[in-house]
Amino acid sequence: MSSHKQESEKGTKGDVSSHDKTKSWFYTDVVKEHFFNPQNFMHEDANEEDYNAIGKVGSPACGDELRVWMNVDPETEIIKEFKWKTFGCGSAIASTSIASVMVTENGGMTLEQARKIKPQDIMERLGGLPQRKFHCSVLCDKAMRDAINDFYRRTDQFDKMVVEATRIIDPVSKVTDHDIEEAVLEGAHTLELVQQKTKVGIGNPGCLPAVEELIRFYKDKYFG
Ligand code: FES
Repeated sequence: MSSHKQESEKGTKGDVSSHDKTKSWFYTDVVKEHFFNPQNFMHEDANEEDYNAIGKVGSPACGDELRVWMNVDPETEIIKEFKWKTFGCGSAIASTSIASVMVTENGGMTLEQARKIKPQDIMERLGGLPQRKFHCSVLCDKAMRDAINDFYRRTDQFDKMVVEATRIIDPVSKVTDHDIEEAVLEGAHTLELVQQKTKVGIGNPGCLPAVEELIRFYKDKYFG
């Protein structure tokens, strides 16, 4: 076991302690640097006419929200500017700040390159995040995807839009695939834990194979 993990489990030396004192959270120096000095933060009120790709996402897990404004070169589809604002926590601020650097550094990424960025790539640049904060890094990824779709919508390139639809997995508990995604992001990686969070399948066991498949899918997508 690494000393990092040992300290975390002892709950004595983390940056932040949870309220029950059983665990501490560690933030890397990169996370702290981007939290205290966020890059490309939209300080003023956004003049939306100055941007041609705008995205927004809310987090069902914590109720926070994140907005992204991008300037995309219409010829090359390279991201020239990436501004953002969030009501989210320090992890969301650090994740979005580093993502804004990743898509604009070295002349900028094309929209298709930016769309290939995964939350794991953001985590890697940050040197990691506490697992309970992983969903915060997914927020900026989703807001950016929303902005990319917005650009394609504005330029009538509907075939390039990628829309993630929500579907009901358990009609009894009204749990959707999105609820299961959020549960996995919150650290529920087994059927039992997902059921504790969502009650999925408790009155309708016939849906459990589909639930297990989704848990595998989202674990692989975000933690694989
Ligand atoms: Fe809401 Fe991190 S963004 S807890």
